Amino acid sequence: MDRIAITGGARLEGEIPISGAKNSAIKLMAASLLTDEPLRLTNMPRLADTRFLGKLLQRLGAEVVEADGVLGPETTLHTPEIVSAIAPYDLVRQMRASFNVLGPLVARTGQAKVSLPGGCTIGARPVDLHLKALEALGARIDLHEGYVYAQAPRGLVGAEIEFPFISVGATEHALLAAVLASGQTILRNAAREPEIADLAECLTKMGARISGAGTSEIRIEGVSKLNGATHAVIPDRIETGTYALAVATAGGQVRLTGTRHDFISALLDKLEEAGVEVTRHDDGVTITRNGGRLKAVEIETDPYPGFATDLQAQFMALMTLADGESVIRETIFENRFMHAPELARLGADISVQGGEARVRGVEALEGAPVMATDLRASVSLVIAGLAARGDTIVNRVYHLDRGFERLEEKLGACGASVRRLKGDGGEEES
Ligand code: UD1
Repeated sequence: MDRIAITGGARLEGEIPISGAKNSAIKLMAASLLTDEPLRLTNMPRLADTRFLGKLLQRLGAEVVEADGVLGPETTLHTPEIVSAIAPYDLVRQMRASFNVLGPLVARTGQAKVSLPGGCTIGARPVDLHLKALEALGARIDLHEGYVYAQAPRGLVGAEIEFPFISVGATEHALLAAVLASGQTILRNAAREPEIADLAECLTKMGARISGAGTSEIRIEGVSKLNGATHAVIPDRIETGTYALAVATAGGQVRLTGTRHDFISALLDKLEEAGVEVTRHDDGVTITRNGGRLKAVEIETDPYPGFATDLQAQFMALMTLADGESVIRETIFENRFMHAPELARLGADISVQGGEARVRGVEALEGAPVMATDLRASVSLVIAGLAARGDTIVNRVYHLDRGFERLEEKLGACGASVRRLKGDGGEEES
């Protein structure tokens, strides 16, 4: 298993190009199952998660072709026919987003058998809302031996669905299924994340009739067939926010390009409150931090446009060095503070009680071996390592590879010392 070695202390200076959004790309890839024509996705991130989903789609009948086009990395997905409507446990277990093929499969073929994803390290993560939405659209859902069997032999039928609370995954899943249902669907209390608007935009190019995506009420007029399309994946707001936090923590000045500052307004406002300089541009944002300690500020994670749960761990890394006490409230997931004890190994002073962490800023962190527990937690350890004295080794970086493209290269280009060590005790690669 690879590890990442960081020697802390370097200021970050330069430019970091932001990749396409992982959380958009994987839902757009699932959308390709809805048509027998090719879907060409540009600005595609090259990640373990997208590669993995590509493999699952191939098993279902897709041809998946990756290329380096003039607009950067692209992937064309073409499923003339669904050859299997089964997503087995071994694949869904490894990546939750595989579960999203359920809706498109049942919408296109009238049936599907998809493994339940099970829990994960950040919490129970149930899928009851996804299944209720599909049932409301007329699918018969049975659960046997860990699998969801969905059937709608005469096709899905539009419905009014009011979500009891906001769920990104269930909103996307209902959208993916409703576009091919007969009649009108209205989704109320829908999630408003930019990735949902991106999915709706791509589906609209494919011939779907959708209005209101990006607001809490989405209306869909079902169509009988969708066509192929070309669509550029939106920039990754979590990658953008992560590098903004890396610069704020390590110090320096970095321009993040090819991205949207308005996607991370909640974070940028907090950074300014803490004393970081933020300059917004048409194609991104520049983060500047020179000298002095930052002020401790409080955050609470919320659905978009609130503070993203996927940036909570990285923000905690920043607060470990702030002046004063920061209170961090996690409201989306019940078990998302596993990075706190790992940050404490670097010298951070954090106490966790339920969904609340209190971070009392310290003057300095000191490098140590630490362990990555999930995707966003692992990058928070990299951020802390950039600011710590001496060497930090982050173990189990496969978590990181799921969601951050060329992390060592992007940080390295700005002067950071971040190296990948192959294997458990092996030699350096780059
Ligand atoms: C969530 C985050 C998303 C983040 C992703 C990965 C929110 C609102 N969602 O999306 O920003 O990118 O994790 O970290 O911030 N739930 C149920 N039943 C369901 C579905 C969800 O009880 O059927 C619960 C979840 O356990 C969670 C909450 O609803 O407490 C929100 O979950 P949801 O938005 O669906 O999760 P993801 O789509 O994974």
